[in-house]
Amino acid sequence: MHLNTLYFGDNLQVLREHFPDECVDLVYLDPPFNSKRDYNYIYRDLAGAGDTAQEQAFSDTWTFAGAAAEFREVTESGFPEGKLIDALHEVFGDTSLVAYLSVMALRLRELRRILKPTGSLYLHCDPTAGHYLKMVLDCVLGSSAFRSEVVWSYRRWPTRTPNYQHMHDLIYYYARGQTVTFNVLYEPPSESFLKRFRGMGNRLDRGATTKRSSDEPTPGLPMRDVWDLSILAGSSSERLGYPTQKPLALLNRIIAASSNEGDVVLDPFCGCGTAVVAAQKLGRRWCGIDITSLSVTLMRQRLADSFPEIYPSPGDVPVIGLPKDLAGARLLAELDKYDFQFWALTLVGAHPPGGTKKKGADKGVDGEILWRDGTGKLQKAVVSVKGGQSVTDTQLKDLITTVDAAKAAVGLFVSLAQPTGPMRNRAALGGNYTMAGTAATYPRIQMLTIEELLAGKRPDLPKSSRLDPHKSARAVDDGTQGSLFGE
Ligand SMILES: C[S@@+](CC[C@H](N)C(=O)[O-])C[C@H]1O[C@@H](n2cnc3c(N)ncnc32)[C@H](O)[C@@H]1O
Repeated sequence: MHLNTLYFGDNLQVLREHFPDECVDLVYLDPPFNSKRDYNYIYRDLAGAGDTAQEQAFSDTWTFAGAAAEFREVTESGFPEGKLIDALHEVFGDTSLVAYLSVMALRLRELRRILKPTGSLYLHCDPTAGHYLKMVLDCVLGSSAFRSEVVWSYRRWPTRTPNYQHMHDLIYYYARGQTVTFNVLYEPPSESFLKRFRGMGNRLDRGATTKRSSDEPTPGLPMRDVWDLSILAGSSSERLGYPTQKPLALLNRIIAASSNEGDVVLDPFCGCGTAVVAAQKLGRRWCGIDITSLSVTLMRQRLADSFPEIYPSPGDVPVIGLPKDLAGARLLAELDKYDFQFWALTLVGAHPPGGTKKKGADKGVDGEILWRDGTGKLQKAVVSVKGGQSVTDTQLKDLITTVDAAKAAVGLFVSLAQPTGPMRNRAALGGNYTMAGTAATYPRIQMLTIEELLAGKRPDLPKSSRLDPHKSARAVDDGTQGSLFGE
């Protein structure tokens, strides 16, 4: 296991391959909630085109057929959670709930293995599957390990649904050991409490374990299991545009309560990396795992923005699992065509094209790179990524047609396979783009292979001003968001 490292891959496989027994002090997991939605990540175009593009961040739709292997493995494991899932299957049949719980049960069993005896596990979920997940947790960790159901209560714009407004998440807190790391946190007493108990002074915290001298000011009330913390509003400086991003204030609390400086914190579903950023800030060591290269890319950028003294650039954040050679790139292309595409786009500094609502919706254009020319006009390169075992002249011709139709300055053809000689000749005949207001020229049709990109070659383009979805992350570290009570 490598500390202060991101792992790219399925957490089940990563945990099994890389994590020894009893090596982690605190696990926080915020898995997909079985919400039956696909979550999109909004790119913000800071070049001023006023456009957004969406890339699917992760899917939260489960099918029984899709999780058949997990269902079999867990029900044949002989562990209590296998019997529970068998029983739920009897009742609910081949449902997405049973599929989801099977997937989660296998991962929770691995998390139990890697947790130290003094360690804690927090599972973040919502009422969609929360109470079933608690039963799985009781089976995996033992019902005596259950310590709290924290209700994270927040407010957001109400909708006109004929129901109570859904404004809370659930966080199940478990710890198995006799001796468990737990630092009591305090919250300020409410006005009504103060009115009622005015004059009680230092007895306010008599539930706490530390003894206080009579003239020492009280730190407040030991924290309740209902936490009022804002969700990230659209205007929040912390917001990265990643769906399901959790506030740092929430993770600060969990990490401060259940770990000490230098302890190891693991988030095996780490999304845009809220837990790892909070852990780093609080002086903990950390590991993060995510199955999408989009998340890994975002986290690297976020860590570099938040801790430039440690990570001068995103590339300085260690990652295990991203393709480093052609064989790894081929494997990624085989496993997930869209993840490969996104990863290839990040290699050339591109992002999915503006206005695209669904992956693959734009004919042949997978990404774009924007810049302002010498007259201040926005210009772009359109990017076509090909992950197949061979590439054809027709594909290149399509790109050239798109460059003309989209009035793009440059077309970039990125491929896993080597282009043929005639394709290279066709690209060379494409001529040059001269940037208005300058004398600079760039080849109009450029071809790059993944092999060349992995060797460090980059497209020949003007400096891009296109996309900085993480700009706001810098504001996070101004010290104002670090409070355990912070909003
Ligand atoms: C709800 S989001 C986590 C959000 C995170 N707490 C944050 O604040 O950004 C769930 C994440 O789990 C990832 N994920 C889903 N299945 C996974 C798996 N099997 N292994 C690793 N990551 C997975 C998804 O890609 C997604 O980024």
